[in-house]
Amino acid sequence: MATTSVTTAQQSSFTNRIIHGDCIEVMRQMPANSIDFVLTDPPYLVNYRDRTGRSIHNDVNSDWLKPAMTEAYRVLKQDRVAIMFYGWTKVDEFFAAWKDAGFQPVGHIVFRKAYSSKSRFLSYRHEQAYLLAKGRPPLPRQPVADVIDMPYSGNKLHPTQKPVAALAQLIRSFTLSGDTILDPFAGSASSCASALLTGRRYIGIEMDGTYYDAAVKRMQRVHQRVAVKQLSGAGIPTQV
Ligand SMILES: C[S@@+](CC[C@H](N)C(=O)[O-])C[C@H]1O[C@@H](n2cnc3c(N)ncnc32)[C@H](O)[C@@H]1O
Repeated sequence: MATTSVTTAQQSSFTNRIIHGDCIEVMRQMPANSIDFVLTDPPYLVNYRDRTGRSIHNDVNSDWLKPAMTEAYRVLKQDRVAIMFYGWTKVDEFFAAWKDAGFQPVGHIVFRKAYSSKSRFLSYRHEQAYLLAKGRPPLPRQPVADVIDMPYSGNKLHPTQKPVAALAQLIRSFTLSGDTILDPFAGSASSCASALLTGRRYIGIEMDGTYYDAAVKRMQRVHQRVAVKQLSGAGIPTQV
């Protein structure tokens, strides 16, 4: 009984917050088996830079990958899932890190875009994520399709900003109202915004000060919006 109450208190100090820091260090302070769903979009290891010069921390070296996946696995509850985007050119490194941590791949999701992110050998029009299990999670009653349309987010807050509409359906499928969703590579807090808009709790971790500030301000707007929505009964907004 004493252990449970300590665990609850420890977790609640992280809940519904965007934390500024290195997710490996932050997750090490979190209790094991305390998170209901990990939904994250780590750096793709491609040294990304957008047209305006914005870049992403840790997008060159993969030193962080294995320790981060070990911690994500540890904090996730038994018999739960994680969804993690990844860079397809480095699939071998991501796969090794997930398997070493203990995750079992149980699905693969293609996010179809109506525009090309670049054109070379192909016109590149999708992003991708693995569905990863810890233990034996129960099957969802109505599984979502593993091809999901991904509208353009506008990338105003972050160069690889994900649209909330695409993330919200995954959160609804794999969690219940009140569950806690962790995004250790939160960027502009798209997963956290999607969690809050669907009635879940969130923990976001972001090491870049500029994106952290954007995420905190965004979550303030989302909290206000949710308060208004509870009064008006409105649905998920496409932009927040
Ligand atoms: C691909 S972006 C995520 C973008 C996010 N999905 C969004 O919609 O805004 C990955 C983010 O992880 C952050 N990051 C990289 N290494 C990190 C670490 N060790 N701890 C916390 N954040 C990290 C980067 O600064 C970057 O913002």
